[in-house]
This record gives sequence, structure tokens and C-alpha cells, in this order.
Amino acid sequence: MLKKIKDLAVSHGEEIVALRHHFHTHPEVAWEEVETTKKIVDILEKLGYTIVKKGFGGTECGVVADLKGGKPGGCVALRADIDALPLQEENDVPYASKKPCVMHACGHDAHAAMLLGTAMVLAKIRDEIPGTVRLLFQPAEESGLKAGAKAMVEEGALEGVDSIGGLHCWSLAPTGTVLYRSGPIMAAADGWYLTIKGKGGHGSAPENAIDPTITAANLVLNLQAIVGREVSAKETVVISTGVMKAGETVFNIIPDSVTMNGTVRSFNPAVQDTVEAAMRRVIAGLCAAGRCEFSLDYKRFIPATINDHEVTMTAKAVCEDILGAENVKESELVMGSEDYSYFEQKVPGTYFFLGTANPDKGTNTAHHHPKFNVDDDALPAGSAILAGFAWARLTKNG
Ligand code: NI
Repeated sequence: MLKKIKDLAVSHGEEIVALRHHFHTHPEVAWEEVETTKKIVDILEKLGYTIVKKGFGGTECGVVADLKGGKPGGCVALRADIDALPLQEENDVPYASKKPCVMHACGHDAHAAMLLGTAMVLAKIRDEIPGTVRLLFQPAEESGLKAGAKAMVEEGALEGVDSIGGLHCWSLAPTGTVLYRSGPIMAAADGWYLTIKGKGGHGSAPENAIDPTITAANLVLNLQAIVGREVSAKETVVISTGVMKAGETVFNIIPDSVTMNGTVRSFNPAVQDTVEAAMRRVIAGLCAAGRCEFSLDYKRFIPATINDHEVTMTAKAVCEDILGAENVKESELVMGSEDYSYFEQKVPGTYFFLGTANPDKGTNTAHHHPKFNVDDDALPAGSAILAGFAWARLTKNG
């Protein structure tokens, strides 16, 4: 069946590429994917899919659709995110974005097109499918706190689903390859927002002030001691200070307060707990030592993406069959984050990277860059892999 799936995906290659170009020309940012959703719904309805739910998070964005196979069985979900980024495109291609400062610079146009290609393939083998394939076209992967995946899970998108698969195109790996990983693959992203309050005064008389910059300076260094001294060397964690603001432009004034913001990345939820608790303790301790008051807002934005071993092995076997074993390799840990993690908190799943880098076409530019682009030649295989994964899960009962 995988051979047939692959041939079907190749036969739909031109349509898949045309769809990607359409989405690329008409990008929509997080929670504004109204036209994108309409287009997807239209195609799915024509293919005979049942629209389970359209619109998430109080919007008209995103859709869940089912294809009920001809035989009884379990339910497997496939996910594509569909949002673009607020970025001005710098690619000189015929299908460049027509919207100022909105661009598909992460390849979610390709994700939507590939999953529609998968929908076409599965529709053709429908009678033979044992169970249901559920397609999740997810809005707002890039939106931080109001994550599209979270909204979909909360609104029942995974009800009755046994397992889930999803992919991200990857400009760091060559076209025709896949990077998979069992266990953690992408990091949890936390944010911290701190104000250290002292007492301003004249720069010549610090004894009459409480200088918050001393406490801030101590803190920026001591945060790294948490990584080095409180977390096992076998774990992976990053604490970064991204914003540090004190005073204005006057050289002889001790400022009243310092604002600091930063991020924490981790893969193990127990380490995430340790780091947050340690940061709260170190901040409170250093502020007390420096006679400063503080307010801290620590936010857990996105959990770590942790792949199920067995489901990952299904995807790996399918990828090896479709791309050749030599083109399927283990991924490193990726410090970026993905709201796909919310799906994997609910059902066993896997998430992997589809290589789209082709230096001759310039598609090896970093994600989120104004010159980011996807190698269209990678797309039919992506559609085939997702369809093959669904088939492989269902023939094992979900
Ligand atoms: Ni992305």
C-alpha cells in the first residue's frame, strides 16, 4: 500500500505545489486565517470529508475534518499548522506574498498544502482504510500564549483519536530527508518578566539611594548558576535574559527600577519545575540582600514536545519506506518550541522534520527569515509520508 500511496501523492504533485503557492501568495497571520480556512474546507468537502468543526478560539479559523474509511477501526489524526508571520517578504518569486508585512516564512503554507495532498491520496483509497483519519488544520501556531493547538484540544479536536502525527518542513536538512526523534524533540518555552524596585537618587550619593542595578547585575550572573549548579549536567536547559532596562539617558541619576525579561527553555518537565522554583528563590534572595522589592511574572508559554516511542517508530518505518533508510536520521534536540506539544499531552504522537533545503534554489535560509522559502520538490513525499503514517497506524488499530 505504501507504494500506491507514494504514486498517488506524486500524481497529485502539481496540485499540491499550486496550493502551496496559493497560500504563500495570500498569507494570514495567527487567528486571522479566515480565507485560508475557507479554501481548505472547500477542498475537503469536495473530496468527501466530513467537517467535524470549523473555527476555534472564538474565530472562524481552523478546521477539523474526518475521512471515515470503508472498514471499521481506530482513529488517527494528522496535523498541519496554517498561519503566517508578520514579516515583509524579500523573495523574488511569482507567488510572493501580496500582503505587505505578512509572509509564510516558516513553511506553514507547505504544511497546509501537503496535508491537503494527503487528503487527496486518502480519499482515493478510502474503501480500504480500516478506521477514521482525522485532519487538523490548526490556526495560530505562532501566537505564543494563545496557542492554536491548545484551543483545538480544549474544544475537542482530539475526541476519539488514538494517535497523532505531524511534520514541520526544515530548511536545515536536505530535500528528500527526514529527521525523527523518540522522546523530547522540541523545548518548552517559558517567559519571565521581572521588575526590581529600588530607590532612585543622585549618582554622587548612592548611600541615600537603593540602587536596583546592583541587584540586577548580580541576578543576571546568578541565573546562570542555576543552570550550572542546580540542574544535572545530563539535562538540557537554557536561561536567557533578553531585556534589561534601567534609567534614561542621564549619567548622574541612580534609577528607581530595573526591568528584566527573558526566556527559559527545557525538555524535562521536572527540570522546568526545578528552574522556576530556583529562579523564584534566587530573585527573592538577591532582592532582599539588595534591599529591593520586586514583582515577577513567570509564564509557561508552550510545553516541551515529547514524542511517543512506538508512534515515532511507525513514522520512522514509513519514512524509510518512502525516502530510503539512508535518508531518515535521528534529529538533535531543538531548542525552539512548538504548540504541537499540546496534542502530544493528550494522545500519543510523533512530530518530525521534513528536509526542504536545496542550496541551488536558495531554500536553505533560516526559518522566520524574509528570504525563507521551501523546495517544492519536497512536498509530494511529505503528503505521502503523512498518508502512509495514517495507514500504518490504522492497520495497527490506531
Ligand atoms: Ni513553524
